[in-house]
Amino acid sequence: MTEKLSRAQPVEVSKNDGEPRFAHPSEKEFAQILDFYGLRWDYEPRSFPLRWDDDDKVLEMLTPDFYLPDLELYLELTTMKQSLVTHKNRKIRLMHELYPEISVRLLYRKDFHRLLAKFGFGPLIESGVEGIDRVLLTERQINQKVEELGKRISRDYAGKQPVLVGVQRGMVCFMADLMRKLPLPLMMDFMSISDYGGDEHTGVRITKDLDIDLTGQDVLLIEDIVDTGMTLNYLLGHLRAKGAASVEVCALLDKRARRIVDVPIKYVGFEVPDEFLVGYGLDHMEKYRNLPFVAVLRAEGG
Ligand code: PRP
Repeated sequence: MTEKLSRAQPVEVSKNDGEPRFAHPSEKEFAQILDFYGLRWDYEPRSFPLRWDDDDKVLEMLTPDFYLPDLELYLELTTMKQSLVTHKNRKIRLMHELYPEISVRLLYRKDFHRLLAKFGFGPLIESGVEGIDRVLLTERQINQKVEELGKRISRDYAGKQPVLVGVQRGMVCFMADLMRKLPLPLMMDFMSISDYGGDEHTGVRITKDLDIDLTGQDVLLIEDIVDTGMTLNYLLGHLRAKGAASVEVCALLDKRARRIVDVPIKYVGFEVPDEFLVGYGLDHMEKYRNLPFVAVLRAEGG
């Protein structure tokens, strides 16, 4: 094992200048989404030897598709042949074992399709999925949780005048309910950001910025759900640049299994499974936001 570890050194992949030659269109699309959220990336920068013969000849390697230097994270996309998933999983396991200090994550085809669906395209949208599979969180469970969160936040912000910030549109139910559980002299404001439109070299645009000056304020960003964390990562950067005294996050739902960017969330309602959720503000193609509960969408095409 010790001997094996000493051979475990990443190898730099030599590159030509210019646009990387993506092995698959989904990789290019993914790179554009990273660009959109302002996350720097490098395509296939290094290979990690995983298996050697007795003469130290490398028998097997993994070359993760992306490296995100700001997050020190490697990402491997398995968007093409799902038959390769088991094989890839095995390689990722080996990589964790041999390079324990390196963070690497496998993104499955369904992760990628969900990402596209969020922006209104991709197979999940084309499949025309309609209908609710089951209720995940009832109205009563949500109410109880909102009450609990309200108590915690009220305690933590006692004597302060927080500014609740909502990013349209998913937080609408949660923020409306939560703020009524906060007996604090709070202010509220809203912002909107653009969606990824499938174009190259475009970043998030603030389509409506905050009206309140955040300088010296205690900001509490209210989110309905944190999924990959890419939106929140962008928003926190934006809000922190406004000179607030503090910026914290309260998210009703935390879909931790899908996290790409590790974002700090102080107040979490529920950790939820990796399923397509709608209701209580969450949508599928702008529908279902008005359901009073959180439900799982039927999974066809996912
Ligand atoms: C949802 C939600 C978060 C974001 C989380 O917004 O309100 O802002 O997705 O996803 P992420 O962690 O993968 O970035 P969405 O873009 O769906 O817009 P909406 O609020 O109008 O529903």
